[in-house]
Amino acid sequence: MLMKILGISGSLRKNSYNTAALRAAAELLAPHSSLEIFDLAPIPLYNEDLEPLPIAVRALGDRIAAADAVLIATPEYNHSVSGVLKNALDWVSALPDKPCAGKPVAIFGASIGRFGTLRAQLHLREICAALEMLVLPRPELFISHAQEKFDAHGRLIHAETRTRLRELLSALHAWTERFSILPQR
Ligand SMILES: Cc1cc2nc3c(=O)[nH]c(=O)nc-3n(C[C@H](O)[C@H](O)[C@H](O)COP(=O)(O)O)c2cc1C
Repeated sequence: MLMKILGISGSLRKNSYNTAALRAAAELLAPHSSLEIFDLAPIPLYNEDLEPLPIAVRALGDRIAAADAVLIATPEYNHSVSGVLKNALDWVSALPDKPCAGKPVAIFGASIGRFGTLRAQLHLREICAALEMLVLPRPELFISHAQEKFDAHGRLIHAETRTRLRELLSALHAWTERFSILPQR
């Protein structure tokens, strides 16, 4: 079944391991599925007073609404998600149409540390639950020591991690189908 995934990286860094991991996910997808990566760089800092609603925020909400599922790659900053990611999710949570509510989401992440974003992912699960997203329970994927798993061009070269990522994508596919929310195409 065709599945449209929106990939969100919590890092704005050009050589981000998390963005690179999403690019790897796009390669490993099942046939007929697609993964588009949304760039969070144009999202301003949350301010309820901003009017009109920033275009980038509306665009993010629309892309989430149009996607069958979301895949978030989170970095870990000081044992939690990046401010960039939390800020974007706060914006989306404030949209009146609540594009995240009922949306299947899978979480994973890469860090240079030995826990591979474990602590950030636990926080992210709670944040996604607050947005009423349907968080895939497992498999979990913690890409630790990311500097050893990607090459200088940002390609995921670690065979086992590629396998784990493929398994995560396949589980997200099954999870999304379970909720029968895929629009007829
Ligand atoms: C402010 C800051 C805090 C960090 N805190 C953690 C941390 O708590 N745990 C961890 O594993 N790595 C931590 N790191 C290292 C990140 O894992 C590393 O910078 C990683 O490359 C960020 O993801 P990215 O490559 O997608 O940008 C931190 C980095 C920064 C800049």
